Amino acid sequence: MMNTENILRPINYPDTVAGNSTSIIDDTAIINVMGVFGLPSTPFNPFLRLEEEITSLKNNKIQNIIIDVHAEATSEKRAVYQMFKDEVNIIYGTHTHIGTDDLEIYNNRCSYVSDIGMTGSLDGIIGMDQANPIKRFKEGVSNALDVVKESNNNIFQFLVIDLEDSLIKSAQKIKLYTKDNQKIISTAVNL
Ligand SMILES: [Fe+2]
Repeated sequence: MMNTENILRPINYPDTVAGNSTSIIDDTAIINVMGVFGLPSTPFNPFLRLEEEITSLKNNKIQNIIIDVHAEATSEKRAVYQMFKDEVNIIYGTHTHIGTDDLEIYNNRCSYVSDIGMTGSLDGIIGMDQANPIKRFKEGVSNALDVVKESNNNIFQFLVIDLEDSLIKSAQKIKLYTKDNQKIISTAVNL
């Protein structure tokens, strides 16, 4: 799987790592970049790599650019937004598994949210069975994590962005979740 073309590699890893750096579909580029705080160190600075990559995409007349900022720290995600909101169309954060409520649109030009959230169980710890994370925190030794196997409380969080002629027509942040398997509850932020 790691050798297929569909793997999007963070742009701050070198080319020797599996996957493709930026993915280009028609006139839209999708970039993944990995943050610094609390994550394994990558060889290249994410902010400097983004500057290089976005300049290159603009020179190649790519019309739309989407950035997935895979990072622990909201400040790093927000920094990417402030640095590139005039040049790209969608910036969203991932990694924390906890959705944030700060969806915004800048000048009809760029949509931003600090974290989309997750698809997974609301029991356990950010979608993982709680036994191994608690053991890790108590003992200080890394161990493999398992997703929650069975749960009556599950969540599906996603963004719907209408991007047309490089302008943001609308943005929605939606979460669907079950409570005690009883019903599906939906909440949305609409801009
Ligand atoms: Fe992650």
